[in-house]
Amino acid sequence: MKVAAPTDYRELARRRLPHFLFEYIDGGSYDEQTLRRNVTDLAAIELRQRVLRDVSAIDLSTTLFGRRQALPLALGPVGLAGMNARRGEVQAARAAEAANVPFCLSTVSLCTLQEVGGAVAEPIWFQLYVIRDRAFMRELLTEAERARCAALVFTVDMPVPGSRYRDVRSGLAGAPGLSGFLRRTAQGIARPRWAWDVGIRGRPHTLGNVAPVLGQKTGLEDFFAWMRGNFDPSVSWSDLEYIRSRWRGPLIIKGILDAEDARQAVRLGADGIIVSNHGGRQLDGVPSTASTLPSIAAAVGEQITVLADGGVRSGLDIARMLALGARGVLLGRSWAYALAGAGEQGVAHMLELMRAELKIAMSLTGITRVADFSADALAR
Ligand SMILES: Cc1cc2nc3c(=O)[nH]c(=O)nc-3n(C[C@H](O)[C@H](O)[C@H](O)COP(=O)(O)O)c2cc1C
Repeated sequence: MKVAAPTDYRELARRRLPHFLFEYIDGGSYDEQTLRRNVTDLAAIELRQRVLRDVSAIDLSTTLFGRRQALPLALGPVGLAGMNARRGEVQAARAAEAANVPFCLSTVSLCTLQEVGGAVAEPIWFQLYVIRDRAFMRELLTEAERARCAALVFTVDMPVPGSRYRDVRSGLAGAPGLSGFLRRTAQGIARPRWAWDVGIRGRPHTLGNVAPVLGQKTGLEDFFAWMRGNFDPSVSWSDLEYIRSRWRGPLIIKGILDAEDARQAVRLGADGIIVSNHGGRQLDGVPSTASTLPSIAAAVGEQITVLADGGVRSGLDIARMLALGARGVLLGRSWAYALAGAGEQGVAHMLELMRAELKIAMSLTGITRVADFSADALAR
């Protein structure tokens, strides 16, 4: 299949991945209304066409948290991304480094902080969940320091995991024991290329950062059981205070969808927030990020760096988020599909397509620098 647009990688991923893995990436919670709204609300944002403004020199670079980067985006945290390609997080981090954009490693990655951090020269970002086992959470922070992570992304929208029915139907979740294992194995065998490259040569049983607490347990079901049992519903603003006191580098709070929460994050010393509803994977029925971003950016955009994610599928979507008030975006599914579709090269190609699209969008809206985006770029 010839990939022309970034979204083509979704179909490639569907063809290459075992069914349960594709559904894991592609799906959201409950009826997936928020997941759909993220995409449709963003796509409905109309940009203002401007003409005769000399767009011969377009600068797509920007500075986020003190670092100059080529594009106003980062690869956001995607759990289990290492299942999409062999040692997948390493491949994606390499593609991000080559494109000079940050890569954020999830707490629940397949490759460890050390493995990914050691594979690239530029320090990566690390995403942290509050984990019931606070001693282990502190160890993760120490690991992140040791790996010289450039920023800590503290995800706050998962005190409990949202119900994802596709994972139950596919056999990824709620299918313990031999029958679940056999179902997933059958789906893996149906994708022999994946089964050999990732399922066998990729050593998926290593289970990354959480391996030390899983001990001898190395199955996917063990991993999910640990995740279910270790998200902490008691997480509160005092945890943010603790993490702020503990982490000296840039601290970015991910999962803000409310201006009042954004103000509280500013009060407690966050350097940035990510307006996010976890890609429609948590509370279904909450508003899309495109619809909430303007009010949050208006509330705190002068004080901290406001980033956004959810439904960004093209360079045009990046332009839309910037016009709505974000300083940059995080990609989620877009890079996960590309990684599944064509590994490191796929992520690199997807980023190149995004770059080209953003450049054209800027040319046709008459904007020559990322910092010049504002609501003025929106059609009235
Ligand atoms: C398969 C998958 C796994 C994810 N895992 C994590 C995670 O481990 N930590 C986290 O903070 N967010 C996680 N997210 C949310 C993403 O970081 C991001 O907020 C979301 O994907 C953005 O929406 P989009 O996929 O529509 O771009 C995950 C998203 C997907 C699709």
